[in-house]
Amino acid sequence: MSSEPTNVPTHVAVIMDGNGRWARARGKARHAGHRAGVKSVRATVEAAAERGVSYLTLFAFSSENWKRPEEEVSSLMGLFVEALRREVAELHRNNVRLRFVGALEQLGGGLQQKMAEAQQKTAGNTGLFLNVAVAFGGRWDIVEAAQSLARRAVAGEISAADIDEEVFAGALRLADIPDPDLLIRTGGERRISNFLLWNLAYAELWFSEVLWPDFDKSDFDMALAYYAGKQRRFGHTGDQVEAVKC
Ligand code: IPE
Ligand code: IPE
Ligand code: MG
Repeated sequence: MSSEPTNVPTHVAVIMDGNGRWARARGKARHAGHRAGVKSVRATVEAAAERGVSYLTLFAFSSENWKRPEEEVSSLMGLFVEALRREVAELHRNNVRLRFVGALEQLGGGLQQKMAEAQQKTAGNTGLFLNVAVAFGGRWDIVEAAQSLARRAVAGEISAADIDEEVFAGALRLADIPDPDLLIRTGGERRISNFLLWNLAYAELWFSEVLWPDFDKSDFDMALAYYAGKQRRFGHTGDQVEAVKC
């Protein structure tokens, strides 16, 4: 039996892919695709809030994306600054809490400042909790967590045997929010590309052929409908899951 159609994921994570191909198909520079993707971010944030999603995590720039041509990297950084300047007031009006996760110290000073301001301004908001992963990598997150636990062990605060899954998860950047229930990747590729490696262990995966700049609320709803039809077993049998529901 499928779940209720009203079964909305608590946490949705999105790999926003396909901007470059969108631009190429129009004979434009890659930057035009990134720029066009901003409206899909807006639509997705709105849709998530409207449908009752509590946490939305968007992959905006990976630790590996630094390898792209310098021109593309700097135009993306400029776009982040511009998007923050334009969008934060509206997000704040809509009660969205904004947080950036990643190796933010690798970013330019001006961008870091804008991010910090946006976080401070929206910190008290109680609506959608929007996490934006920038200069983020799943392996980076895991290595950082391992380092912080090693430091605590060296300081005598914990012993090696204290490090179980719960403690380890607690040292990751998204420790304070539940793991994603649903991962959406646009752009047709079916891979994780070093996103939330630990946290996605039991996420339902929805791959869309739609290129990110074309992604809209109806595409988001398609992913939610897919999710609503899934039985999540977490290792149990289907009968066990049904029995708990009754
Ligand atoms: C995703 O779109 C945006 C970032 C990775 C920053 P891409 O730029 O990867 O677009 P494609 O995959 O080349 O089409
Ligand atoms: C993943 O997309 C990163 C983001 C969407 C920010 P990529 O375009 O970088 O992934 P690969 O290189 O195709 O795996
Ligand atoms: Mg890509």
